[in-house]
Amino acid sequence: MTDYLELEKQYELGIYPKRDIVLVKGKNAKVWDQKGKEYIDCVAGNGVANVGHCNETIVNAITEQAKTLITCPGIFYNDTRARLLAKLINIAPGQMTKAFLCNSGTESVEAAIKFARFATGKTDIICCMRAFHGRTMGALSATFNPKYRTDFQPLIPGFQHVPFNNSDKLKNAITDRTAAVLVEIVQGEGGVNIGREDYLRQVQDICQDKGILLIIDEIQTGFCRTGKMFACEHFDLAPDMLCLAKGIAGGFPMGALLCSDKIEIPAGKHGSTFGGNPLACAAAIAAIDYMLDNELAEQARKKGTYFVKKLHEFDLPVIREVRHLGLMIGIELREKVKPFILKLLNSGVLVLPAGTTVLRLLPPLTISLEELNIVASEVARALKG
Ligand SMILES: Cc1ncc(COP(=O)(O)O)c(C=O)c1O
Repeated sequence: MTDYLELEKQYELGIYPKRDIVLVKGKNAKVWDQKGKEYIDCVAGNGVANVGHCNETIVNAITEQAKTLITCPGIFYNDTRARLLAKLINIAPGQMTKAFLCNSGTESVEAAIKFARFATGKTDIICCMRAFHGRTMGALSATFNPKYRTDFQPLIPGFQHVPFNNSDKLKNAITDRTAAVLVEIVQGEGGVNIGREDYLRQVQDICQDKGILLIIDEIQTGFCRTGKMFACEHFDLAPDMLCLAKGIAGGFPMGALLCSDKIEIPAGKHGSTFGGNPLACAAAIAAIDYMLDNELAEQARKKGTYFVKKLHEFDLPVIREVRHLGLMIGIELREKVKPFILKLLNSGVLVLPAGTTVLRLLPPLTISLEELNIVASEVARALKG
């Protein structure tokens, strides 16, 4: 058997903290390693496989599109892209009128930063402590954690971080240079911290009062993850720009930035070679249709509540708090999370950290209740020691 682990180790830059399994196959909420061991996947490609691994609808859409037209740059119109754009605007919250298509979350944030500066003629972006928005230089400047930032300074000027869930601090940070506020509804990487309704509504009111753009990053919360198509729908928010990626195309790499009519960008000011390619667009159309046809938002809502109730049936003093919105679940521990992640891997459950003490679960929204029962009992077993 080829040792793919060693091969990858030899040739890939060591930028990922790896777990020692070689995944070769996936179906719905399960993945298999090279040795045939089965796992319930609550990593789901870092919150990407919302419709499940190798969802047949997506596989068929990609296959058909691949036979027809794989690449078509933005300088030409394209039938599949046009259909996706209309669909995105149709399902979007608030008053979105246009979209920019790209290939990842960080590119979506990058575009939002550029468009905010262009649309307002101002430079500054207010972000939140513990925020994560990506790793390219603009998005990294918006990201909070010094662990990601420090070695790459100087970053882009004009970014500052204020406490999450504190609208007074936000108000005090605004100056006449402020172009936009950039915020997550639930901070995923930052620890599964859920924005309070009053806070998020105040952020929107402040932005409207001061004529500042509101950019919401739903790269992790979007596409039914939290129990609504978009998490801003929980709080009736209408952002000026909405950053999307991860679950948008059933696992195919894609990002999107949805914009209200406050954003107008002339031709040539921004672009992407691969952005909006027909293959990604076909996958996204299929993924969105699948989410709507199968009411995945409702499924995420019910299953999230079900899982947390199950977990609470166990007596687990190591848990400080369980936070969740739909199937975006954070289990904050009184101890470091890493050993528990490895224990769970050995017992066939893949999970993520969010910071040093939070166990994060982002399973496919199609996961079964039986699988959630197994996840809950394995988590409990691992946490009991
Ligand atoms: C909220 C949020 N924004 C941005 C990103 C960056 O997305 P990508 O890794 O696709 O560049 C992530 C990725 O985890 C994220 O969770």
